[in-house]
Amino acid sequence: MLSGQEAQNDPDDAIRATDDDAAASRLSAVTLGYLDDPYTSLLYKPPRMHAGPSAIRKAPLINVGTHHRTAAIDLLVDKFLDQAGPNAQIVSLGAGSDTRYWRLRDKNRQIRRYVEVDFPHITSIKAQRISRSPKLSSRLGPTPSSSSTSAPTASGSSHTDTSTMLPPPAPREKPYTVQKGGTQLVSDTYFLLPLDLRQHPSSTLSEQLLPHLDRTAPVLFLAECVFCYMAPELSADILGWFGRTFNTLAGVIYEMCGLQDTFGQVMRRNLAARHLSLPGAEPFPDIASQAARFVDPSLGEGVFQQSGAKSLWDIRQSVIDPDEITRISKLEFLDEIEELRLVLNHYCVAWGTKSLSSVSL
Ligand SMILES: C[S@@+](CC[C@H](N)C(=O)[O-])C[C@H]1O[C@@H](n2cnc3c(N)ncnc32)[C@H](O)[C@@H]1O
Repeated sequence: MLSGQEAQNDPDDAIRATDDDAAASRLSAVTLGYLDDPYTSLLYKPPRMHAGPSAIRKAPLINVGTHHRTAAIDLLVDKFLDQAGPNAQIVSLGAGSDTRYWRLRDKNRQIRRYVEVDFPHITSIKAQRISRSPKLSSRLGPTPSSSSTSAPTASGSSHTDTSTMLPPPAPREKPYTVQKGGTQLVSDTYFLLPLDLRQHPSSTLSEQLLPHLDRTAPVLFLAECVFCYMAPELSADILGWFGRTFNTLAGVIYEMCGLQDTFGQVMRRNLAARHLSLPGAEPFPDIASQAARFVDPSLGEGVFQQSGAKSLWDIRQSVIDPDEITRISKLEFLDEIEELRLVLNHYCVAWGTKSLSSVSL
């Protein structure tokens, strides 16, 4: 545990605080009916001084952006799971207070492994909230299909040979274990790992993430608003590591873009006022460059085969069901469509794949 003085002086506090922004935006969107997510309020508690429905409420532009971002990434995750089958593995880098694992469990999606990574300060709070909530912790066991996976018989035949059957597993009190001083939580399906992704990504990922994954099974990694806070060579190292390590792979990133124009400069200034710099955003001035990072030849053997990217505005126009746009447009008054276009054009979702062609928008 850091002392108050150390915590105040730690420059990473500003980066970690971005999880509060993402979670507070999610809570606002859920509270107003943009998103259906019963888990956000269990994993994120707004500061007491901000309690109350009006304080939770974000501006309509933010709520719409949160809706489109979530809908687009949910769709990519669904496409991955449809193609990957029962051994699907998902890794969420900089997962913060994200609720996607629990939402997928409610949809009865088959997932073999779901691994979340963040700084230990963040994972310890999340591990605590999971442990204290029966609604969260009861969903950490095997997913329906993986729990019924049986060991092959010695002859390789499928008939039931009772002499080789293992005894049923003893009932466990809890479907998970909390480790590493409360900063790590592991279960059959869900893993929460304390890692700083900037620390020599290749070796960190090989030593601390890979033991929780099956190299031969399909993997999707998600990085929502994480790479912008890291030096570009470090995020390239992460992309390359995934590309080299897995044959059946998809990666999805959500990033700010267009930071060179006037509106982008304002975004940057606002973040700088909160001691946040964006070293990972500089080399990717537009949407095409976000797609190109997955297929950059400098990734060597880790290069992906296909990639693409869309701004949140493109996603609104061409991906989200028009009926859903109509539904959410009735939730709040928003007449400044040009302002909405401007804001949504400064955020994008990009993806890259190897042997998983349908994971795209
Ligand atoms: C903007 S938040 C997004 C959280 C979550 N992905 C979401 O979309 O709700 C960024 C998250 O990335 C984490 N993060 C940033 N840099 C990181 C690093 N070097 N190692 C581990 N986590 C990091 C932060 O702590 C924070 O939780």
